[in-house]
Amino acid sequence: MNDVYEQLKYLLRPSSVAVIGASREPHKIGHQVLKNLLKGGFPKNRIYPINPHAEYILGLKCYPSVKDVPYPVDMAVIVVPARIVPKVLQECVEKGVKAVTVISSGFKEIGRVEEERKLVEIARKGDMRLLGPNVVGVCDTIKSMNASFCQDLPYRGDIAFITQSGALGIALVGWTKLKRIGLSDLVSIGNKADIDEVDLIEFFGEDPYTKVITLYLEGITRGREFLQIARKVSKKKPIIMLKAGKAERTVAAIKSHTGSLAGSDIAYEAVFKQAGVIRAPTFPDLFDWAIAFSSLPLPEGDNVIILTNGGGAGVMATDEAELRGLKLMDIPEDLAEKLKEFMPPFGSVFNPIDLTGMATKEWYRGSLEVLLADPRVHSVVVIYCHTAQTEPREIGDAILEAVKSTGREKPVIASFIGGEECYEECERLTAEGIPCYESPERAIVALSMLYKYRDFTRRKETVPPIFAVNIEKAQRVLKVAKEEGRKILTPYESAAIVKAYGIPVPEQGLAKNEEEAVKIAERIGYPLVLSIESPDILHKTEVGGVKVGIENAEEVVKAFREIINNVSEKAPHADIRGIVVRKMAPPSREVIIGMHRDPIFGPMLMFGSGGILVELIKDVSFRAVPLTVEDAYEMIKETKAYSLLKGFRGMPEADIDKIVEIMLRIARLANDFPEIADIDLNPVFVYEKGKGCLAADIKIVLQ
Ligand code: COA
Repeated sequence: MNDVYEQLKYLLRPSSVAVIGASREPHKIGHQVLKNLLKGGFPKNRIYPINPHAEYILGLKCYPSVKDVPYPVDMAVIVVPARIVPKVLQECVEKGVKAVTVISSGFKEIGRVEEERKLVEIARKGDMRLLGPNVVGVCDTIKSMNASFCQDLPYRGDIAFITQSGALGIALVGWTKLKRIGLSDLVSIGNKADIDEVDLIEFFGEDPYTKVITLYLEGITRGREFLQIARKVSKKKPIIMLKAGKAERTVAAIKSHTGSLAGSDIAYEAVFKQAGVIRAPTFPDLFDWAIAFSSLPLPEGDNVIILTNGGGAGVMATDEAELRGLKLMDIPEDLAEKLKEFMPPFGSVFNPIDLTGMATKEWYRGSLEVLLADPRVHSVVVIYCHTAQTEPREIGDAILEAVKSTGREKPVIASFIGGEECYEECERLTAEGIPCYESPERAIVALSMLYKYRDFTRRKETVPPIFAVNIEKAQRVLKVAKEEGRKILTPYESAAIVKAYGIPVPEQGLAKNEEEAVKIAERIGYPLVLSIESPDILHKTEVGGVKVGIENAEEVVKAFREIINNVSEKAPHADIRGIVVRKMAPPSREVIIGMHRDPIFGPMLMFGSGGILVELIKDVSFRAVPLTVEDAYEMIKETKAYSLLKGFRGMPEADIDKIVEIMLRIARLANDFPEIADIDLNPVFVYEKGKGCLAADIKIVLQ
């Protein structure tokens, strides 16, 4: 068990709880928290109300201060006005309390940042973890502890729910009860001054009572730690997230292509993918999926069967399965023969298997048993449309009997469509471990989440190789720009930096005069591009600062003169450092590789279709650093550019491995130099497989 688990077990699974600010007045929150603890079933002799003005509250002996409690206190719930919180917190430290939950509002959420910082300082000095402030509290069904002002303890279950919104947390307790959903814990994290979602994910990852971790969040603060911890925990337990607030795009003063295509929600989306976090759009979805994860094993293979008594419902399920990328199994001859025993001659043994409206309990049970016993079948969705032929309860029994007799080794999900009886049967089946939904689509979507998560758990995570890079060279170039107070590096400088990191760029040299230009040209060969090198000129073509297609020494001299003349005329005050003589890269398929530093998650890599239309086409994908080799390949596969690179209409396959290497090298560059805000390599020409790439144009922007 790790440190965080050891610390937070006092918050979430304490043996004794003090309520500081336990009020005598029934309408006050401090009174309600005390009452809830008693009502929830927490051992009475381990609850200590603290109130200097009372002797007994709700039959429990009161203490003037937590320091006066003659027994150890694992956790204290603080429910006194904000101004008294530091004082009672200090008393908790002196008492040796291990964790506190500060329900009191009146801190950062109203601008009292310094007061909140002070709370953390007191807690940290005292080796005490702090939840809140500004929270509803904690509900733990394992220890029957309702240390909150939620009216009831949720039903016991194995889904942990972490919420940034207190009010939503309270409301959802009622809703989960209505839907008969059990939780292991409900934790409201409020201002997250100390304990945040990252700590809690780490705790629940280790917690033997929790199978699924669900969250409602408006924002993440420790982005890189989130990625690291969630990625690790996801391999063991599913994490389902409802992330609200599609925040504004980051507005950079100087925009690169990558910077303008990046945005806060895009970064969240990318990090969730990398960390295996499943993003749910709504609460019903979140709990639909959480129930499926909590009750079912993951499918071992891809073959999905839909078993139905209604053709229409089967078609709807098939459409959704197609959309979600599920593989409906083709039924082999021998299996079809067995299934025919359980349907009329006009039934269908194609998948979806249609037992028809005549389906009886025996048919459902028999066919489901045959399917579950067949090793070629990996998961089954059973759909029932209510008919006069049977009662939903009978079909529910048929499913349960078939599942029990075959050992519950494969996921079986149900959908019952009809009136009240169907609704009740759905609830019963769900409670019995067969998640049942009111529509076939919801059943299919839940199954698709099991597959999505299974794929994540099977994914390899290859750490990139340690590339040999020339850090000193990159440092030298950056130093010049920084000393001159420049934020945008020239293309020549940018190329020098990425080249130092092993990224192939066209050969080039900086010429101070015509003779030097010719010398460089003769060395690197033709055709060439000549362009002005000046930190003051951003748009070179507009001032006549670029000449392309130079084929010989004579043309080099001519182009050199023309550029100098044009620039002297159109940008007379520009600081001219020379002329860059660069080999023209042979054109090929164009991609963009970029990096944008996100304020929450740090460096985000971008890949996509390149060229001048990148922002219009927006065929891009993002991932955060650290980037695994698999992340990089997945980024490429997510874009339309991938089809082009694989070989569209007879084109040979392009050098995708080299693109991956460039992406990994850019990730390394971004890690080594936090002062780099944005990088664009656009276009990168990608040649045939084995023939590499060339980053033809490079832009680096500093923070
Ligand atoms: N130690 C312990 N108890 C103390 C105390 C001390 N040092 N000093 C005072 N108290 C007692 C008070 O006497 C009172 O008990 P009483 O009613 O029996 O006299 C009790 O603590 C509560 O103090 P009070 O001043 O009455 O505060 P309150 O109950 O009106 O409000 C909060 C306290 C914390 C509920 C309120 O300040 C608050 O923050 N409310 C918002 C909570 C919230 O919404 N959280 C986030 C949800 S998302």
